[in-house]
Amino acid sequence: MVKFKMKIHNSTVLITGANRGIGLEMARMCAFEKAHLHLVIRKNDPGLVEDLTKRGALSVTLWVADLSLRNEVATLIEKLCHHPIDIVINNAGLLTGGLLEDQPLDDIYAMFHVNLLSLVHLTHGLLPSMIKRGRGKIVNNSSVSAFMHFPCATTYAASKAAVVAFTNSLAAELKGTGVSTLCLITPGVKTRMFDEIEIKYAKNLEIPADYISAELYAQRVKNAIIEDVPFLYPSGPSWVGLNIARYLPFLFKMEIGRRFHR
Ligand SMILES: NC(=O)c1ccc[n+]([C@@H]2O[C@H](COP(=O)([O-])OP(=O)(O)OC[C@H]3O[C@@H](n4cnc5c(N)ncnc54)[C@H](OP(=O)(O)O)[C@@H]3O)[C@@H](O)[C@H]2O)c1
Repeated sequence: MVKFKMKIHNSTVLITGANRGIGLEMARMCAFEKAHLHLVIRKNDPGLVEDLTKRGALSVTLWVADLSLRNEVATLIEKLCHHPIDIVINNAGLLTGGLLEDQPLDDIYAMFHVNLLSLVHLTHGLLPSMIKRGRGKIVNNSSVSAFMHFPCATTYAASKAAVVAFTNSLAAELKGTGVSTLCLITPGVKTRMFDEIEIKYAKNLEIPADYISAELYAQRVKNAIIEDVPFLYPSGPSWVGLNIARYLPFLFKMEIGRRFHR
């Protein structure tokens, strides 16, 4: 059987959280591959259009939306119905952290809205057009935290575990439609969020320092899209940590006990 391959070249790609971090590097990677880009950001940024056009994007359209607000996600979907999207990259994310009782409830609600509900809502809104055209890819950015349940990561880990469950379940529904999913089990990537981990967790947890650059990670995402694999797992020490958490939970708990203090 010939394996279906998704191409980025000439495709129309929507990326959320594309103004910085992993999202920006994925936008740059897609520009280099000569894609049409639709970028969801919170503040207008004409410099972003200029930069990505110079890097090879066939077109760049910016959509301003706060993904923590249901009505803004709904409005965004309404506007996007005139722009058939081939690849959706649900990347925008917020980090919560620290002892549960210390995490502000407003932060927890905003995080679940951005990390989970907007991802589900956008997928729900954009999927029918993909199924109709018999072509598409939904890329959801989860985390090693979906499997590595560190203390101080209660709410964030729950959001990312839900992204894995949602994506897996959807993949089964989409069999034979021409639309497929890719779930990113993202390891430490050196971005602003990575630096926030130190601030939010370090009081109670000694955090593993392993990370890669956002540029390198975007290249791995590109290969995973083109190869049409359902999951992108980390490599190196993050791969070892992930597999200890999944298959040797007693060892993972022991290690956490060593690193965590109230
Ligand atoms: N970095 C890591 O180590 C790591 C590890 C595992 C998973 N991940 C996941 O990878 C994804 C990207 O993370 P990153 O490291 O690139 O983080 P980042 O540098 O903090 O970027 C987060 C992006 O999400 C956007 N965003 C946040 N709240 C939003 C909202 N309410 N509406 C619209 N956009 C919003 C941000 O926009 P603003 O600039 O407007 O805030 C920014 O573009 C996230 O889903 C994260 O959970 C990251």
